[in-house]
Formats: sequence, structure tokens, C-alpha cells
Amino acid sequence: MNTSPATSARVTELLAQLTVPEKVGQLIQYFYFGIPAALAGEESEIAQQPRAVEDALARGAVGSLLFVTDPAENNRLQKLAIEGNRHGIPVLFGFDVIHGLRTIFPVPIALAASWDAGTIEEAQAVAAREARAVGIHWAFAPMVDIARDPRWGRMIEGAGEDPFLGSVVAAAQVRGFQGDHVGAPGHLVAGPKHFAGYGAALGGRDYDEVDLSDQEFWNTYLPPFAAAIDAGAGNIMSAYMDLNGVPASGNHWLLTEVLRDALGFDGFVVTDANAAKDLETHHFASDAADAAVRALNAGVDMEMAIAQPAFENLVAAVENGLVDTARLDDAVRRVLEIKEKLGLFDDPYVDAAASEAVLADPAHRETARRAAERSAVLLHNDGSVLPLDADALGTVAVIGPLADSKRDTIGPWVFDHDLDETVTVLDGIRAFVGDRAQVVHEQGVAYPKRTFPSMFDMWGDTSPTSAPDFDAEAALEAAVNAASAADVAILVLGEQQDMIGENASRSDLSLPGDQQTLLESVAATGTPVVLVLMSGRPLDLRWAASHAPAILEVWYPGTRGGEAVANLLFGAAAPSGRLPFTWPRSVGQVPLHHAVTRSHAPQDQVHRYWNEESTPLFPFGHGLTYTSFSYGEPRVDAERIGRDGTVTVSVDVTNTGARDGVETVQLYLHQRFGTSSRPLRQLKGFRQVTIGAGATTTVDIELGPDQRRYWSAATRDWMLDASTFDVWVGADAHAAAHTEFTVTD
Ligand code: GLC
Repeated sequence: MNTSPATSARVTELLAQLTVPEKVGQLIQYFYFGIPAALAGEESEIAQQPRAVEDALARGAVGSLLFVTDPAENNRLQKLAIEGNRHGIPVLFGFDVIHGLRTIFPVPIALAASWDAGTIEEAQAVAAREARAVGIHWAFAPMVDIARDPRWGRMIEGAGEDPFLGSVVAAAQVRGFQGDHVGAPGHLVAGPKHFAGYGAALGGRDYDEVDLSDQEFWNTYLPPFAAAIDAGAGNIMSAYMDLNGVPASGNHWLLTEVLRDALGFDGFVVTDANAAKDLETHHFASDAADAAVRALNAGVDMEMAIAQPAFENLVAAVENGLVDTARLDDAVRRVLEIKEKLGLFDDPYVDAAASEAVLADPAHRETARRAAERSAVLLHNDGSVLPLDADALGTVAVIGPLADSKRDTIGPWVFDHDLDETVTVLDGIRAFVGDRAQVVHEQGVAYPKRTFPSMFDMWGDTSPTSAPDFDAEAALEAAVNAASAADVAILVLGEQQDMIGENASRSDLSLPGDQQTLLESVAATGTPVVLVLMSGRPLDLRWAASHAPAILEVWYPGTRGGEAVANLLFGAAAPSGRLPFTWPRSVGQVPLHHAVTRSHAPQDQVHRYWNEESTPLFPFGHGLTYTSFSYGEPRVDAERIGRDGTVTVSVDVTNTGARDGVETVQLYLHQRFGTSSRPLRQLKGFRQVTIGAGATTTVDIELGPDQRRYWSAATRDWMLDASTFDVWVGADAHAAAHTEFTVTD
């Protein structure tokens, strides 16, 4: 998909006619905030910003805008842009279409938990259709940063800890956003981000430095980017942070030697917000002019700027010979090419009237509901408390601060949603149960609150908060009384949507506010507790796992989330999600993941902590459903293969329950010896299969050289070792069914 077609005559001719200032203008992207000055602060840069942007449009000094989602406004600004430059070059509209535009889908970590490329692709295709209908051309997504530290809030935006799953998810998202080529109608340019290694921030503290070994970089953090590029992504966004002491957005090794030379990317690179200008903030560049030169020369093509772009200094830099014209032209060509592929030179405006029908399409809401059902992960279900039987229950108590919070149900990184359309868990349960049982609701505790404000507060679209005079004692008492009188207590707890995401790192994983007290008080009534968890990271469930018979992780399930959750709780749908990360017992274990090497004192023989198990609470890949499966002995079609050989692993999987079910059969690989010590378990394949009650299915998974190749610090090169390989097949990273094969020279 990334074959570099010859540059068109139109772009070549246009490029030849542009002056240096006009070229530089194409490389500047401005935020265009419609945030009322009253919210952003009269004199704030953000409040003054629209006027500055419109002046720049009139000067032909803008190549792209972001944060415009209204089609009429899009057309107005596009007209200013086209009339503001000699050649009528249109601007590119980009936006954070992370998990939907008007129809909100489950958050990305939830979509990843579906382990279903089809669900993921379908979701992002709907998001793309809605976004393109309002005149957006480019999504700053998928976020493909591997995350192994749940203190880092942006874990929610990615696909978790694993490069294999992360690569499958990245490619599916790119296909969903872009369709089968860049410029496909009703689709967007996909912009995988944040290149690269951002998820390894020190201490899980967002924006902080990343120190990555080469082997971690090449074997863990880079593969999802490679998969996204191989899937044809038209854009890459460079990250904020220092990578091994060099800011990613000024890092020539990263943005040229790795991204262009090693990965073959030939689209355009945009910085993260202000990340070019901030090379000075990093104390890397001496001033804004130096920052612009070093970002462009490192491989950045376009600067995402809030105001006063650093790239305006490039005009002088070219005149002073600090930037080669060839490098400048390279960047401009890429930007003009993407505009041409999108058809913007011939058709730059959007049909505002037609957009409302697209945004209101009921089929989109149905797709979101199905995605929410496929994303939820059933962590625990003692005594098969779930699914509930609405006809057998007299009273259902729905308790907790997230049970009826529309804003939290759709999660962070949403700006164009319709809260009136959002179905909360309480709404969903009430609609499902109808008059078959009585449903009572108690909030139980005050809404938990962040200690420090969220960067998104300025949009005014915040989670509900409790009044200062909230009567906590009375609320808790009412919740306990409701639970005591009920046949089941469904607790909807977790983090509010502003406690996860960008600039939402956290130093512990407990249930925020007084929710743990609520959980324990309700459990003490003796009424069976079903915990419905809304989170984007693993939370500390040590107490819950031993006191709540059932725990269902529903993430932030989106516009139709409550409907999906009710279907899952009452059995109209069965959970099929699997964890895309390892669930720690406590924050003290972090970072904790499944792909660790063996060491001289294997963890299954020698404890690591004297105060706590070092094993996870729930393993990577874990998830239950409403039936059970058994695995036969896996077998290989060849016990010995050459270095470039492929072996097929087959296993019979039987549905031993009374209900059809979806099983995600996972394959983990271990190389027993070779150039480097290799992880005991690494996910290297999976198949999601539906198996009828009592039926048996044979699942085949191929293991070729790509699944065995790795970058070794011993040789500082890619290796395909001759060795003996253990293969485990099962329902999570603790899979026990084993076979092996040997690779010979
Ligand atoms: C933000 C994020 C990035 C986002 C961009 C535009 O700070 O880091 O993921 O796409 O700015 O909103």
C-alpha cells in the first residue's frame, strides 16, 4: 500500500510555482478552537486564537486546520483558505476521531479487547463516514503506542501491552479509517501516533521522558507502527517526549532513519500539538527558529501549532541556508499529494445539508452497540451469577456514581457527541427489564474528583460533580438499604472519564473517592453483588475479586453502551472480550506484562516480593463467557523445519457448555535457546471462533519466520535462530496445552 506512486504533474507544476513563504504556509497546521472566551479566559491565547488563524488564512499561511467539526464552519474556513492564496490551494481538516464522532464507540482499549479485527474495522469505518460527512479529511488515530504501565492514562487510547495484538488492531483501524486506499470516499487519512515509544513514559507520568533499549524499541514498541504503515497509513504523528534524550519531534534517527529508511513510510509527518516549538521548551533547541529548523531537518513535514507557529521561521531559515530547498519541497510535496489524493483541489467543500442524515444514521448506533457487546470482558463469574434472569428477580438495585452518568459512559476524547442519545447502564437495565422486575437506583457516594483539573475542562463538557453539601452519609445509607431489599445489587463503579486519557496519569489504581466503601458496604448486606467496572486501565480489584461474585469490565462503552451492558448482564448477548493487558494485583507490581524472560531464578520457583504474589490478578488474554471450553493436545504439522520454514499448529477446541460461545484461541511461543534470552510466553497468533454447544472445532494457526524473528542486542540485528520452540495454546497467557517444534540450520 505504501508504494510511492510518481508525483502527479499537477503537484509537480504547483510546487514549482510556489514561493518559499507559500511553501512554508502549507506546512503549518493551526488549531481552530471554537471555545468561548468566557470558558478559555478572555485574554487567553486560546480565546485570541481564531482571529490569528483567520489572518493567517487570508495570508495563504495555513496548510491545515484541526478541531473544526461543523460542516458550515468548515466550508467558511475553507473558502477563506482558498481565497487567501494565489493558487486556491485548500486546507486539510484533521481531528481527533479516536472512537467515533457523533456516534461514540467503545474507547480504543475496549475495541482492542474485542480481539476482533472485523469489529474494530467496522467501528472506525463508521467513525470515518461521519467525520468525512462534516468535512474532516484526516484522523489523528489510531494511537498505536504499546502501554505496559497502567499509571499512564493514555493506555485507554491504544491496544494494550502486546505488539502482536497491537499490530492486528493497528492495521484494522487503518483499514477502517482509510478504506482500501488513501482518498477513498467516506473515509479519512489515518494518522497513527505517537511516533514512537510514548507509552513507556517514566513512572507512567504522561509527557515524561522515555528511555528504551534498542531491543524494547524494535521488538515491542515499533511493530504496531510498522503494521499501520504496511496497512497504508497516509500520515504519522511524532510524539511529544524525549526518546533516549532526544525529543521525538526533533529526532532524525527516529523520523528519517527508522520511519523512512527502515519502515519505508512515504506519507507526511505532523508533530503533536506545539511539539516543534516545544523543542525549545525541552531545552533542546535554542529558540523557536532553531526548533523549526531542527524539526524539519529531522523529518517533520507539518507543524501542529496552537498559535505563533515555529515554522514561520523557516522562510528566513531557507534564505540563510539552514534548510535545503529540497527538504522543504519534499515536505510540501507530501502535503500537496495528500490533498490531491483526497480530491480537495477539485471538490474542497462539504455538503453540510447531507451531513445530518449521515450523523443520525441509526445503523451507526447499532454498530456501536455490537462493538460494546464484543468489547466487554467478564473477569469473574463465581457460581455463574451471570447471566441474570429478569423474570426470576423481584428487585434489581443499580448503585454507583457511574450507573447513570451519560458523560462518563462515552469516555474521553469525544467532542461532537449527543449526550441525549447516550444510553447509560441504568437506562439500559430499565429498558431491558421493563416491568418484569423492579429497578431501583441509588448513586451511593459523591462523584469522585481529580485532585488537579483536567486539560479538557476548558471545553466545559465535564463529568458530573456532586454539590459541596452532598450528604454522603444519607447517600450511603440509601444505597445499603436498596441493596438489602434487592435480589441483586449491580454496582457501576470505576474512574470518571477525566481520570483517564491524556494528562490523566495516576499514582495508584484504587477505586477513586468513596467507591470502595460503597462496594464493601453493599457486599456486607449479603445481597449478591455484580460489579460493572468502567475504566480504561486495570484498577485494584483484590478485594472485589474475593467478595463480588461477578465482575464485568465494560470500559467506556459509548453511545449505546447501557443497552449493550444490559444485554450482557441478562444474557441476550454473551461476553467475548479478552484482556489486552495484564491485570496487576496492585500498582506496586507495575510494570507487569506477560512476555518476560526466565532469569536464573524462575518466577514459578522463586517468589519476587516477600509481601505479595508477583503473579497478576488476571492474566493477559483473560476473559470468561457463558459457556466453557476444553482444549485437546495441540499438534504441529512438522516437528522440524528450516529457519525460513512455517509450521501449522492445530488444536481441537470443544464447547463443553450448554450455550453457543465465542472463544479466542491464543497461541504463545517460547524460544528455548539462541542469540538472546527470549520471553517465556509471547502472543504469536490467535483465532476467534464461534463454537456451538457441545461441538468441537479444529483451530489452525500458522507460525512462520515473522513470528520467530526478533532484534537481538547481542548482534544488534534481526535474528532467526535455530532452536527448539515451546508452543502453548489456550484461553489466556497462562495457557497450558503444549507442543513443540525445532528449527534447524
Ligand atoms: C494532543 C495529543 C494528540 C492529539 C493532538 C491534537 O495533545 O497528544 O494525541 O491528536 O494533541 O488534539
